Amino acid sequence: MIGDKELAELKERVGRRLSEKRFRHTEGVVEEIARMGEIYLPDAIPELKAAALLHDVAKELPIEEQIQICREYGDPELDSAVNSPAILHGHAASYLILEIEPKYDLPEIISAIYKHTTGGEKMSVFDKLLFLADFIEPNRPWQPCRDAREAFWSNMPSDADARTRHLDESVLSVLEFTLRYLRDRGTEPDPATERSAASLRRKLNETNSSHQIKENPND
Ligand SMILES: [Fe+2]
Ligand SMILES: [Fe+2]
Repeated sequence: MIGDKELAELKERVGRRLSEKRFRHTEGVVEEIARMGEIYLPDAIPELKAAALLHDVAKELPIEEQIQICREYGDPELDSAVNSPAILHGHAASYLILEIEPKYDLPEIISAIYKHTTGGEKMSVFDKLLFLADFIEPNRPWQPCRDAREAFWSNMPSDADARTRHLDESVLSVLEFTLRYLRDRGTEPDPATERSAASLRRKLNETNSSHQIKENPND
């Protein structure tokens, strides 16, 4: 059971680990994920907030130390992550939590933190919420993040099925933006980001065609 008191204490410990700027971003992710959680996972809000608080705890460690942690725990994607150092901190944090915050070493939290920079082939709703909240949290000043935030909230559908699709489409648009952004700057994206985008595209196409079948039963 994660209560308000535990979360307040966790926030204080995380604050001691992070720079002011990183902590402000973290607070933004907590705020955003709580708002999203009310719609998508109302029974998991404390866990979502804990994942948001912990998602960047390894971000400011030296890269060598991040690699060391991943190696120690046998990260299956270490070889490709080493080539894209910006994604390593999610993997390193997912292992570090076992040492620094074992109470929060819960499968849903660990999975979401591991995938928060690249997504994954089989993302849970929990994974998607952290991935998206990290990009659209209100303290990010970058225009693409602000636009994605506006698009997510202003187009929120009222029915549950459409909301599931809306979340998938929103995550896919961030993944596609990231792929484009990196390529435009001559950087080859991590294969995990490619795989995540491809798998979501497939999922969205499948649900699209099943809707079409329902809508056109005589075709
Ligand atoms: Fe991060
Ligand atoms: Fe982050």
